[in-house]
Amino acid sequence: MIQAIRGTKDLLPEVIRQWQFIENVFRTVSDKYGYNELRTPIFEKTEVFSRGIGEGTDVVNKEMYTFKDKSDNSITLRPEMTAALVRAVLQDSLHTKQSTNRLWYFGPFFRYERPQKGRQRQFHQFGAECISPLYPESDVEVIMLADDVVKTAGIKDYKLLLNTLGTVETRKRYKTALTEYLHSIKDTLSQDSQNRLDHNPLRVLDSKAPEDKEAVKNAPVILDYLDAESAEHFEKVKELLAVTDINVEISPMLVRGLDYYCHTVFEFQSSALGAQDAFGGGGRYNGLFQLLGSKKEVPAVGFAMGVERLLLILEASDEFKLESDAPDIFVAATDVDYIKQAQITANKLRAKGLKVIVDLHRRSIKAQMREANKINSRFSIVIGANEIETNKINIKNMAKSEQSEYPLDTIENFDFK
Ligand code: HAM
Repeated sequence: MIQAIRGTKDLLPEVIRQWQFIENVFRTVSDKYGYNELRTPIFEKTEVFSRGIGEGTDVVNKEMYTFKDKSDNSITLRPEMTAALVRAVLQDSLHTKQSTNRLWYFGPFFRYERPQKGRQRQFHQFGAECISPLYPESDVEVIMLADDVVKTAGIKDYKLLLNTLGTVETRKRYKTALTEYLHSIKDTLSQDSQNRLDHNPLRVLDSKAPEDKEAVKNAPVILDYLDAESAEHFEKVKELLAVTDINVEISPMLVRGLDYYCHTVFEFQSSALGAQDAFGGGGRYNGLFQLLGSKKEVPAVGFAMGVERLLLILEASDEFKLESDAPDIFVAATDVDYIKQAQITANKLRAKGLKVIVDLHRRSIKAQMREANKINSRFSIVIGANEIETNKINIKNMAKSEQSEYPLDTIENFDFK
């Protein structure tokens, strides 16, 4: 038998309702904040991501699904949305047509990572991006939207970590200090971190290797290196968040895994997830538009959340209950000749907005009733010669095992409560 590719999952009907629930949360919350949905192609020219995300990152170095198409173009399945979205905004000049672009997205993304709980090779993200002035109010708007999504979904037990990566100047000074420190403890670092120490020291801070985690505990923190502009931006973000109901924890080592960030960075974490505890993250990326060809800086800030991880958290909580997807009415026919009448009756009821199933197996009434029970239909009716002749039908409330007699030709007026 042919199996699905490792690290991918089919979304079977038994879980799809959870997905529809969460998608509905994304849509309704985004809408409240005036964000509009954007959809871009699943694949892009490789340079969108290699330039946008950064050559020194794990995503670009190790995780991209990159291939040559038949015309020898290098193509990459999108590993994240921000770079692709910026490409689209630039291509369609959205940033010059409107002073603020509030955009959200939902869809599949691809990273060649080692699959484990909450980590797949095809996964899904919901995210939102705000292309707007440099002011910290935009950072806070997207954090509020993200937090609103988490709370509206029903997640209570989580942490929101906040840090700043400051201006280019700040990062330069900090990187010098960090590199110096990392050199002093070089032997204790993983081979990967030793290799990237000089060209991308920030990546050592978010390395998952246990020896790196231990080694960076005493590393210098960026908060001690902020210039005036970085400090002012960060203070304002904290001040604006302090008057909301959002609890943030300042996390000076939070650097995020992608190179395009500056100033505000944040991450949502949940202990329900195990090793892959981050279920969302984002930050400001003022330099990304220029990396992808804009002549001018275009400030922007956003976040993305992993949908599989959000659902894992919800599944782990006892309170997560979805409305039943059982049908309202199951229509059985006494014999093949009456299936036509059953379908006509079903359509009358569907026109009233009811969910109605007609049995398609040409089987005995007993077998049809077993099926009605199995799928938890709320009501059942049986149509046959007798019902048509007398224009009387028994409507059975399955849970209560009660029957009500009703005229067949006006069955749509029965109160199926
Ligand atoms: P990211 O932190 O790489 O950020 O991914 C965001 C979220 O996607 C993660 O927190 C995680 O929940 C989920 N995720 C990532 N990789 C996987 C995987 N292999 N399996 C399952 N879930 C995964 C970004 O992608 C940025 N574009 C976020 C952003 C938007 N920054 C600014 N705007």
